[in-house]
Amino acid sequence: MNLLKKVSLNLRLIKLKRFFGSLFYSMQRDKLERKFKDVKLLKATKLPTNIIRTEKIANGGIFYFQEEVELEIYFITTNLVRINWKPGKLPVPYAISHHNWEKVEVDFQSKDDNWLISTDDLQIIIASDGSLKFQDAKGVTLREELPPQRKIKANLTNHGWVHQAKLRPDECIYGLGERAAPFNLRTSPDNINQPKTYRMWNFDAGGIYTNGTDPLYLCIPLYMGLHSHGSYLIFYENTFPANFSFQDFAVADFEDGALRYYFTIGSPPQLIQRYTQLTGHPPLPPRWAFGYHQSRWGYEKEEVLRKVAQGFEQYNLPVSAIHLDIDCMDDFRAFTIDPDRFPSLREFTQEMAEKDIKLITIINPGVKSDRHNKLFEEGRAQGVFCKQPNGQLILAPVWGGMCAFPDFTDSQARHWWSRQYEYLLDLGIAGFWHDMNEPGVFTLWGDSTLPAYSTQHSMEGRGGDHREAHNVYGLLQAQAAYEALCEYQPEKRPFIVSRSGWAGLQRYAWTWTGDIETSWAGLQQTIPTLLNLGLSGIPYSGPDIGGFKGNPSPELYVRWFQMASFLPFFRTHSANNAKPRTPWGFGESTLNIVSKYLRLRYQLIPYFYTLAWQATQTGYPPIRPLFWADLQDTRLWNIEDAFLLGEALLVYPIIQEGKRNRNIILPKGRWYDFWNDTSLAGGQEITINAPLETIPLLVKAGSILPLEVENKLILHIYPPLEASSGGEIYSDAGDGYGDWRLDKFYLKWDEKNLKLTHQQQGNYPLTYERIQLHLHGFELHKAIVDGKQVNCEKNCLEIEEFEEVLFEGELISEYE
Ligand code: GLC
Repeated sequence: MNLLKKVSLNLRLIKLKRFFGSLFYSMQRDKLERKFKDVKLLKATKLPTNIIRTEKIANGGIFYFQEEVELEIYFITTNLVRINWKPGKLPVPYAISHHNWEKVEVDFQSKDDNWLISTDDLQIIIASDGSLKFQDAKGVTLREELPPQRKIKANLTNHGWVHQAKLRPDECIYGLGERAAPFNLRTSPDNINQPKTYRMWNFDAGGIYTNGTDPLYLCIPLYMGLHSHGSYLIFYENTFPANFSFQDFAVADFEDGALRYYFTIGSPPQLIQRYTQLTGHPPLPPRWAFGYHQSRWGYEKEEVLRKVAQGFEQYNLPVSAIHLDIDCMDDFRAFTIDPDRFPSLREFTQEMAEKDIKLITIINPGVKSDRHNKLFEEGRAQGVFCKQPNGQLILAPVWGGMCAFPDFTDSQARHWWSRQYEYLLDLGIAGFWHDMNEPGVFTLWGDSTLPAYSTQHSMEGRGGDHREAHNVYGLLQAQAAYEALCEYQPEKRPFIVSRSGWAGLQRYAWTWTGDIETSWAGLQQTIPTLLNLGLSGIPYSGPDIGGFKGNPSPELYVRWFQMASFLPFFRTHSANNAKPRTPWGFGESTLNIVSKYLRLRYQLIPYFYTLAWQATQTGYPPIRPLFWADLQDTRLWNIEDAFLLGEALLVYPIIQEGKRNRNIILPKGRWYDFWNDTSLAGGQEITINAPLETIPLLVKAGSILPLEVENKLILHIYPPLEASSGGEIYSDAGDGYGDWRLDKFYLKWDEKNLKLTHQQQGNYPLTYERIQLHLHGFELHKAIVDGKQVNCEKNCLEIEEFEEVLFEGELISEYE
């Protein structure tokens, strides 16, 4: 039999095996679930009735209602409060990272028929029916909650809560983790691409999804409300499945657990700052992670990867990482490498390292249940896998057949899993890509995950079923990996990408938007999905450039690539039945355009890296919605086809086929066209040209944009509109935890001169040989660096480290 026939027969056999595996699993699961699923009908929903007693406690108070309902209000800071309605199972605090808060002065008083509990920044009015009103220090109401409803089962046990709040007519809603929905999640009945309810249940989209698909891989029960009176953020610390909707009311309907939530007020940046203080700031990634990543399901052997790397060399294109999909595994067994396809991975990772290319491997949580699989046997002996109530293992099919699933809610199982990374790290693998970790399994019908009621989890010893553990499964796998990488390679910063996750994932991993379809709609969906992830505390994400399944036209690929070069996670990836997708795979004219953006991306790395450092302090996502630049301009609240990259850059991608220009709205201030320095007045709506080689890109007046070109740091200076402005650049060795430096720049315009001053903190030496200052929107006559006149040519000058530069010249101030 020739090779082709053999391969195709093998494929058919695998597919057949998968088909029967999925059929068997779906039937078994239904049988099991019938035994354990609580099918008793709900008796009714119940509201709290009358407060019968109150109690002042440190940082807050407790309100006792009739029928054993309790409301605990606990101020964590003056503007962050934790609210707990009981009864209901309290969560294992997987999301929470900060616990040592200071004592808060809380005022507690009864007022008319209500109670008032307040700090200097936030007051809550509690009515005796259990409705709550949240007001800022000036008494402006930001949110009004209805009395929550308890869902009671026929046997009178509690069964989750339904929580509702009134929405203002102009209120916009953002967040909820990863959504294939419009940016503003407030339901508009005429939008057919908008889910009517948003489900909290991490879900494997099964190889393809598009606008309106819900849920996706990574849900977070958090949202931000923005309206004319202010903005707030609410995070429900409840991992059970839930449905959220936002019509006249914001409704959060939980299947089980206590109604426990955190509430904070402030501007959107302040909200993100508070939320990430609570759930953890993202650590600084290694610098190389901001380079370009090339990936494909189908890089099935060393030789293929070598060719890909050679392609980058041949076309003189930078690449930082290549990802190995499931093809690298030995018979789809976790933490293995197929010895026939990758006979000497250690040498190969070294060979790649010499070219400055890191290798990242995929890790799926399913462990093939096969007595020849050492990992399975070891895991079974140690009792780390998820079980049925009768103690038997839960087995479900994934790529390699029936698999067992580590119970990541058990610290011992996490520890056991952590140990497995050592082998691949030792072979020189630089990072890990967690996939199928919702967990996703193959089914013919029903939910494509583990049985919700009959899978038992440890939940740190207190017990729980998969309904409770499911949404944190990927988060805890990421934790296990993160801890492993910190332990085995303490001199390096972990790099993990996780498809699934929950609140707090930013502490451990990046994510990507999974199997988005290859279409213009898929490209369009990327921006709102990423913006909402960022507003849910997840700063590092990106799409499969060109979409997962299918073959993009050269135009779609170009437009996707252009946009992605300004996104934190810059990776091309595609399905195994798509044509190999590389920058040179679409012909010369496409290559010319794409390579320009690839190079620009590498030049922008100091800027990305500085944004990453800022995220470690503030939690701010590198890409932000336009309202971040001016909250007062309500036109910006719904913009979902553009984004800010940090403070300085505004990206208006072209996301429609055939488009060679587009309308843009500029936030207040002044903006410069990055490509030709045209100065544009903020606030206006204009049409901007965008031939295929151009993505509309604007720079905010007052910015200092750092670009790195070979060994030179180029500071592009865009004169301020206001009298002064500034910028900063963070740098260090790019990995590890050694010395660092922060260069701060201040720009001041005094009607005659432009003054640039520089201050430095930290001990890391400046790595650039030269610094070039490049002025835009300014006609430079003379430059004086630390008292000495320096030659300048075409608005540029080259210097070494400096403290102060005086630019004499004129602002080119015509506006368009
Ligand atoms: C899933 C992933 C995709 C990967 C494929 C094979 O569909 O989302 O990125 O290529 O599995 O591992």
